[in-house]
Amino acid sequence: MTRTTTAQDTRAERRRSKLPRIVDVPFQHVSYLPNEGAAVTDETDVATQGRDSLTIRDNRTGNEYELPIIDGTIRAGELGNIKVDDHDPGLATYDPGFVNTASCRSAITYIDGDKGILEYRGYPIEQLAEKSTYLEVAYLLVHGELPSKQQYESWQHEITYHTFVHENIKAFMEGFRYDAHPMGMLLASVGALSTFYPESSSISDAANRHMQVVRLIAKMPTLGAWAFRHAQGKPYVYPDNDLGYAANFLAMLFRMSEAKFLADERLIQALEVLFILHADHEQNCSTNAVRSVGSSEVDPYSAITGGIAALYGPLHGGANEAVLRMLRRVGSVDKVPEFIAGVKAGKERLMGFGHRVYKNYDPRAKIIKRACDDVFAVTGVNPLLKIAVELEKIALEDDYFVSRRLYPNVDFYSGLIYEALSFPPEMFTVLFAIPRTSGWLSQWLELVTDSDQKIARPKQIYTGKRGLDFVERFERWA
Ligand code: CMC
Repeated sequence: MTRTTTAQDTRAERRRSKLPRIVDVPFQHVSYLPNEGAAVTDETDVATQGRDSLTIRDNRTGNEYELPIIDGTIRAGELGNIKVDDHDPGLATYDPGFVNTASCRSAITYIDGDKGILEYRGYPIEQLAEKSTYLEVAYLLVHGELPSKQQYESWQHEITYHTFVHENIKAFMEGFRYDAHPMGMLLASVGALSTFYPESSSISDAANRHMQVVRLIAKMPTLGAWAFRHAQGKPYVYPDNDLGYAANFLAMLFRMSEAKFLADERLIQALEVLFILHADHEQNCSTNAVRSVGSSEVDPYSAITGGIAALYGPLHGGANEAVLRMLRRVGSVDKVPEFIAGVKAGKERLMGFGHRVYKNYDPRAKIIKRACDDVFAVTGVNPLLKIAVELEKIALEDDYFVSRRLYPNVDFYSGLIYEALSFPPEMFTVLFAIPRTSGWLSQWLELVTDSDQKIARPKQIYTGKRGLDFVERFERWA
């Protein structure tokens, strides 16, 4: 018996069909028969040949199903129609970490990991890093198009105007312990912002959403800089609205008694580039967290706080700090071969190398490597650079790394720049969170305006006990 589930069968599909298709993937015939590659049946083969669909035969029942392939995916919900009997909840997929599950349709960031391509809204990252500014890129991510002159000036004005935070937030931050981690402070203070803007919970109001987007992009550098000053026991510095986004951030970090603080233009430019490179990276751990929290229709401050929390973890935002520790441990160029031998023997990993998605040189790493020269021209060369360059040279020629397609990722050189700019390692993730806010917000806006989306609620495979009789305390403890 062949049961056919078509794209029109589900409610989600009816809504989806109103949206344009992003990718057209050619037909692929996949067989789930026990004999890999064997035809399902001759008739099925002939009938389905050339269709954008997947034929599944359930060997438990002998039933066959045809599922539409749309954008190179099948709709997991449709697997639920594959049942042994009427009591069966239906087939599901098991995919911890979502390694092969698309959770959304998105038009924001495109990555081709094999070719080392990264594009925001269709524009290659190399061109944006060279020719754009962070605020222009933030506008592009949020609005989907590059701004006109008038749109850019108005956006810049809005962001600059909203850089100040309520004095109570300052008092709130001052309440942290002297040695509080700046990411913990950022996390808490962004969450606290929702209490200052209770109207932000009206997420179906477009003008309201825009206001919160502006506020968040504007206030992140202020909160990040104050978290840094707090750890140093220095007074918080208010924003300087005469300065651009990165220049103002540097002033809030480093200004002391001078009336005006203007960092070296080359450092400002390097920070702009780093901000552009970190602005978005499609469905990574923290973006997924923002989307998951946001799917409950909570206000954006709370959703972004979820992203900051995810970024705080060492597997996500903390690798550049690990690179610095590794380079210090290696100590000198002549120790590099011995260190590489240890990595190949499986003693440890070469931090800043390898990526889940990029199986080629991470395009961001190439740009950061070039930015190192500009920064070091001002600050003096970080002595660890020589070790990093030697590690890269040896690794890129070594079969262990070549055969596994391990190349430098974004974190390999960024820590060296941050250190040269006088940031302590615990600030590195804050420097990531500030620009990523525009990416998170773009993804959040896409989420709340996407009729396909539902509250995030994955399935589980229950492995625990069932149907036990409760034994009261006096009996259990007797
Ligand atoms: N050094 C040595 N061997 C490595 C490394 C490395 N950095 N990365 C992967 N491998 C080996 C790994 O041992 C395995 O070898 P085998 O097949 O013999 O077991 C093979 O390469 C595949 O590794 P994997 O762990 O299955 O790959 P993954 O895609 O799950 O992991 C990764 C990706 C980034 C977690 C990993 O490459 C890694 O741990 N790198 C070092 C940490 C790092 O730099 N992280 C920053 C990532 S970029 C941040 C961002 O974009 O947000």
